[in-house]
Amino acid sequence: MNKILTVAFALLIATPAAAQQGIEPLEVKAELAELGKRLFYDTRLSGDTSLSCASCHQPDKAFTDGQALSDAYTGAAHFRNTPTLANVGHRDAWLHDGRLGTNLNDVAREMITETYLMNMDMRIMQERFKQDPVYVQMFAAAGMNEPSNGGARNALQAFMRTIASRGAPIDMGEMSPAAQRGQGLFDGKANCSACHSGNRFTDDKPYNTGVPDNPDIWSDPERHSAFVTYAKFMGVENYMNLRQDLGAYIRTRRPETARRFLTPTLRELTWTAPYMHNGTMATLDEVIDFYNQGGGDDPFKDPRLQPLGLVPSEKADLLAFLQALSGDSFDTDAYVWRAEDYDYQLIENWRDAQN
Ligand code: HEC
Ligand code: HEC
Repeated sequence: MNKILTVAFALLIATPAAAQQGIEPLEVKAELAELGKRLFYDTRLSGDTSLSCASCHQPDKAFTDGQALSDAYTGAAHFRNTPTLANVGHRDAWLHDGRLGTNLNDVAREMITETYLMNMDMRIMQERFKQDPVYVQMFAAAGMNEPSNGGARNALQAFMRTIASRGAPIDMGEMSPAAQRGQGLFDGKANCSACHSGNRFTDDKPYNTGVPDNPDIWSDPERHSAFVTYAKFMGVENYMNLRQDLGAYIRTRRPETARRFLTPTLRELTWTAPYMHNGTMATLDEVIDFYNQGGGDDPFKDPRLQPLGLVPSEKADLLAFLQALSGDSFDTDAYVWRAEDYDYQLIENWRDAQN
């Protein structure tokens, strides 16, 4: 009896979600998310005002940057691929090695303060905000006495929680016959759903799939110095001589977790190339060939990866399915900050309030 009730209830709450035609945005306070949106596009969050969050997380690329390895702060270059922020509030863990697992506020702190990312002292950041009447007004509207770095991170978190996928063929009931055959392979013969499960197509857990290292991290001195800074900060032994990205090992120190990286979402792949934690795969065809041969070459590779024996027509179907997981572009009024629509009106309101 109990079981029947549970099932009935699950159906009741599942129905409105399906009607959403995408991933549910998380609940946030509108004024806080609006403040977070302005912060996301503001270069004053980086030490030398050269970068905003949106420099690397660009909405028209589902909040990635189109590069194999990310840019970084002036004089540095990054050793990882910029992940999509689509549905990022739903994740259980963040960053390719999963080293942050509490909330997006912590991730924002890491992005802002890390020397090779935005290299910002948050006490200075807070003073910059206090000098801007628009921020004074927006923090107040969001229920805070005055601009603060904790409040800024909460606002960034709120904005990111609104970034939700919409309009993908899989949600709209518009999958082609090829994509539908591909879904059968994804859940069956190709066993992709063993890790890419649920409606975001990730279990948020780390696995070793044998993705080869990206040699640019060690041949480019700017990338290498950022990598050394990271490995040293994480306290990994022998960080100067390391010539591999050790992934989850860097936080667990268990050898069998070496080179495990978080399963990424498969939503919005059309916008997020190149792929993998280090951008070593340029196209989805390459990714499918990689899995078809059983993944890469690594002593700790996950046993779930085995040669698949997909024939060309099956590879084409699987590709069609992956393409059916991308929705509308995020380059919309909802996600881009437009100073001309908003700032001046706020400044006017603020001036009126002063008089
Ligand atoms: C210089 C480029 C750059 C800038 C600027 C930047 N990011 Fe990132 N972001 C990255 C890279 C690269 C990663 C992955 C880092 C890693 O795995 O160690 C990342 C990861 C993230 C993640 C985790 C995503 C996931 O699925 O694990 C979030 C959330 C995020 N950034 C938000 C922000 C916010 C908010 C800002 C501004 C305060 C920002 N980023 C600024 C490059 C950047
Ligand atoms: C054992 C778990 C596992 C299985 C099974 C698996 N994947 Fe993955 N997948 C991962 C992990 C982990 C990554 C990230 C690896 C990295 O960053 O180096 C990944 C990355 C990807 C990416 C790149 C996404 C991006 O944004 O960079 C695609 C596409 C992908 N997988 C598709 C598939 C398909 C298609 C299948 C089935 C043929 C499959 N995966 C099977 C765990 C798995």
